[in-house]
Amino acid sequence: MAALPDNISLGRRPWNCELAPWNCQLGRRNCELGGGITIGGMSDRLYFRQLLSGRDFAVGDPIATQMRNFSYLIGDRETGEAVIVDPAYAAGDLLEVLAGDGMRLTGVLATHHHPDHVGGEMMGFALPGVPELLALQQVPVHVNQAESEWVRRTTGISASDLVSHDHDDLLEVGAIPLRLLHTPGHTPGSQCFLLDGRLVAGDTLFLEGCGRTDFPGGDSDAMYRSLQWLAGLDGDPTVYPGHFYAAEPSASLDVVKQENFVFRPRSLEQWRTMFP
Ligand SMILES: [Fe+2]
Repeated sequence: MAALPDNISLGRRPWNCELAPWNCQLGRRNCELGGGITIGGMSDRLYFRQLLSGRDFAVGDPIATQMRNFSYLIGDRETGEAVIVDPAYAAGDLLEVLAGDGMRLTGVLATHHHPDHVGGEMMGFALPGVPELLALQQVPVHVNQAESEWVRRTTGISASDLVSHDHDDLLEVGAIPLRLLHTPGHTPGSQCFLLDGRLVAGDTLFLEGCGRTDFPGGDSDAMYRSLQWLAGLDGDPTVYPGHFYAAEPSASLDVVKQENFVFRPRSLEQWRTMFP
């Protein structure tokens, strides 16, 4: 099956071609990372896990393995409340990880409506995701207001399951504040999440490249503006992308700004010549 390429790369090569040179190193790195990364934050209360599809959940699922999606678990260790970012492929696995960590689900955050992030039909395959999660546990699904109808259509969940947000809304998970940032371009209502020195960037910003803008609802000019806005964030947050498309699973925003070619254009006009 052909994978759904989700990133812009120089020359628009399929992403799996780009993976080839370092793919063979995955076995070693997988062993080092084990079942996802757990990172302490400024406060010991922060619960944060980065989980890779096909490795840390949905193990044995060929699409999950090929697509290399990251899902994130974010919560407050003291209250035990947690949210899942982009629960595609195997909602039950993600709930098991939470339960194993003594956390309980209080919500879902969707970066955008694509089926490899929230479930739905993709290239003839029905991917499980948010609907399966809600069948196991009914929680609110937080989306940007410009994405709500897209998420509803893609997943088939009802409008009452969704909580629509504006740019820069604050969501508190226990005592952990998350800023919801509207970053259109990959899709109309793509959003990133900023918390405790971390930027969960969905398919807006990868460590190498950014999300494609030639799918329905994509907007290349909007992507340029979103990337420029993210580049201006204070505090050099660590970027946690929506896919494992680079050699490392995360990197500081300063490093990404220096090394990622999407930050090379100095104007919208230059951007348009690179990414028409
Ligand atoms: Fe996407």
